Amino acid sequence: FNVVTFAAMATLNFDLQYKDNTSNARAGEITTDHGKIQTPIFMPVGTIGSVKAVSQQQLKTEVQAQIILGNTYHLYLRPGTDVLEKAGGLHQFNHWDKPILTDSGGYQVFSLAGTRKIKEEGVTFQSHIDGSKHLFTPERVMDIQRSIGGDIIMAFDECPPGGSEYSYAHKSLQLTHRWLDRCLAQFNATPDKYGYTQNLFPIVQGATFKDLRRQSCEFIASKDAPGNAIGGLSVGEPEPVMYEICDWCCQHLPQEKPRYLMGVGTPWNILECIGMGVDMFDCVMPTRNGRNAMLFTTNGVINIDNKKWEYDFSPIDEGLPCEMSTYYSKAYLRHLFKAQEILALTIASVHNLSFYLWLVGEARKHIIAGDYASWKTGMVVKLKTRL
Ligand code: GUN
Repeated sequence: FNVVTFAAMATLNFDLQYKDNTSNARAGEITTDHGKIQTPIFMPVGTIGSVKAVSQQQLKTEVQAQIILGNTYHLYLRPGTDVLEKAGGLHQFNHWDKPILTDSGGYQVFSLAGTRKIKEEGVTFQSHIDGSKHLFTPERVMDIQRSIGGDIIMAFDECPPGGSEYSYAHKSLQLTHRWLDRCLAQFNATPDKYGYTQNLFPIVQGATFKDLRRQSCEFIASKDAPGNAIGGLSVGEPEPVMYEICDWCCQHLPQEKPRYLMGVGTPWNILECIGMGVDMFDCVMPTRNGRNAMLFTTNGVINIDNKKWEYDFSPIDEGLPCEMSTYYSKAYLRHLFKAQEILALTIASVHNLSFYLWLVGEARKHIIAGDYASWKTGMVVKLKTRL
């Protein structure tokens, strides 16, 4: 059988700086050619190369984002790799000079595209924009991510639907592993396009089955990638199952590499999973829920649409180092939502993202202070409060 591992080249560095004694939480620093990322970290989602309703300036000065996400599926369909290559890559195109991670499309193809067909070769799907037909293979997805130019790129995987049966999850996992070897071969055979190093992270799958997850962790660990991701969670399984599988994967993935839990989740999900040893997170929740008037604050969850806030002239959240959160009042933001003013979407998104970045920053401080577990327990209760 054919063992494919990484070619020796300059990859990102992960400096594991602190380990908490009271949990499995860690604090570290990832160094990429576009700068450093302090972990644990939350990565705002910029699907099409833009974090919805938020400018790059706001991401830097208010949100204090250290890395953002883009999606291969969306960027391939629009504007397309030709535009991205002519721009000199996504960093040049969207004017974001810090690190970028791109997801592979292995998830979006299943959640967004029209009629799709999975074969050994890859996945054929129809664009959600114009219905046109496309084929994603592991090789093609590597080439597209080379053209986009993310500092971290993801392997092409199949994310089996929540509640998948063992036999399906098993077959799907074997396909994901064969695709990983093809991703690695293509990645190693193609050079960096824009003069900085790209890094490929493989993704653990295996649905809710511990033996499959363990097999997947071991297979992925054998590739000695610069970082490893956990996929296929928060896809409809009960929350305790998500926690159990995440914890199990952390126990079976290398200590010395960053661990990235894909698409999770609520603020309390993030705190629980940091306690298991996850270093990187992304989720559309702060922006998507923000655009639907749901605010996460240092005191709990707010539905800013609620009549309760009509005369509340106190700041959105005094506890954050974010100007928008402290400058505008709850009553004003509620008014903007009621009047369907587009500024409402920006304020809510900037605020929620600032909150998520503040939260992982606080987590990092408590890991370093060595009291993560007790801090987390109190914080989870507070953050879940419905105000
Ligand atoms: N985003 C959230 N979950 C997943 C997953 O399982 N795979 C990929 N590629 N992206 C994800």
